[in-house]
Amino acid sequence: MVVLGIETTCDETAAAVIERPPAGRGVILSNIVLSQTVEHAAFGGVVPEIAARAHVEALDHIVARAMSEARKRFDDLDGVAAAAGPGLIGGVIVGLTTAKAIALVNRKPLIAVNHLEAHALTARLTDGIAFPYCLFLASGGHTQVVAVRGVGDYVRLGTTVDDAIGEAFDKTAKLLGLGYPGGPQVEKEAAHGDAARFALPRPMTGRNDANFSLSGLKTALRLEAEKIAPLTDQDVADLCASFQQAVVDVVLDRLRAGLKLFQARFGAPTALVAAGGVAANQALRKALHHAALEAGTIVIAPPLDLCTDNGAMIAWAGAERLALGLTDTLDVAPRARWPLDEIAAANAPAKTAAFK
Ligand code: KG4
Ligand code: ZN
Repeated sequence: MVVLGIETTCDETAAAVIERPPAGRGVILSNIVLSQTVEHAAFGGVVPEIAARAHVEALDHIVARAMSEARKRFDDLDGVAAAAGPGLIGGVIVGLTTAKAIALVNRKPLIAVNHLEAHALTARLTDGIAFPYCLFLASGGHTQVVAVRGVGDYVRLGTTVDDAIGEAFDKTAKLLGLGYPGGPQVEKEAAHGDAARFALPRPMTGRNDANFSLSGLKTALRLEAEKIAPLTDQDVADLCASFQQAVVDVVLDRLRAGLKLFQARFGAPTALVAAGGVAANQALRKALHHAALEAGTIVIAPPLDLCTDNGAMIAWAGAERLALGLTDTLDVAPRARWPLDEIAAANAPAKTAAFK
């Protein structure tokens, strides 16, 4: 099964062609990602209008490159997939409309993929792992612990009640005058800082649920920074190290709670799967291994370029759905908001009702 996937929900214009064998991991035939980081850097974050315009300008070329690198013609495809949300609506419209046009003209099935579902299924593309597994998705827009029980069968065990983890890293970086995106900069500074210098809070720790709250941590950091302003280079490094340590402690505690919830409801997970750009953070990865070891499971962290937004994950999720006959009609709508567990509700109302 050969599927083209298109991703335009945020600031990456991406297209990829993958092949899904009847069993086991997938084969990536091409995976083209054009990042808009430069366009948004001056604003310290993604500007929706700029993103949508950049997608319009780039997408046709990116799709053409993905097809030619895969040495496929549209006629060779078994399906055309696009991320239909959640995300910045202008960008989602560009990607989904392009996919609809390709599907219509070439008489191929269309698959409208939930972007979060694509992150959730990536570990099956890279490692061919079996269900059920526990997903920790941490990006600039999302922070979720999810039980992945099957294609279209997701139970959210925890989420952030305010900022996403990546967002907290980005805001910290902005506050300290570091560049965008902030995560990598904060990690770099933290490497030569003193994590014990500032006593920052560990919000939500000790609770039985697996929810997160990051905005208080960011505010506490701002207050500490204001107290000692103007900041020296060492101050900045120490603030970054203290912030990162607080996030690591929070993640470890929240994942422990999430894995306990998982085990109580669904039994042992086949793995703890990391996804999202924040998974690049080495200190956080260590926390994941720690939590997994305690729970008697392993960590699967797809290679970084497949953890961050890309077309291959959309194509793969499309292929997984296509294999189950889950295709969409041409009037499917783009969605700014689209919670993961809503897919579960649509696919199997009786099964998910018990977990509400
Ligand atoms: O998944 P992603 O590429 O895009 C979406 O947000 O969907 O994630 C980007 C986020 C940004 O907030 C960035 O600061 C964060 O991931 N990030 C990191 C690191 N690398 C990227 N956060 C912490 N440490 C890192 N090394
Ligand atoms: Zn994403």
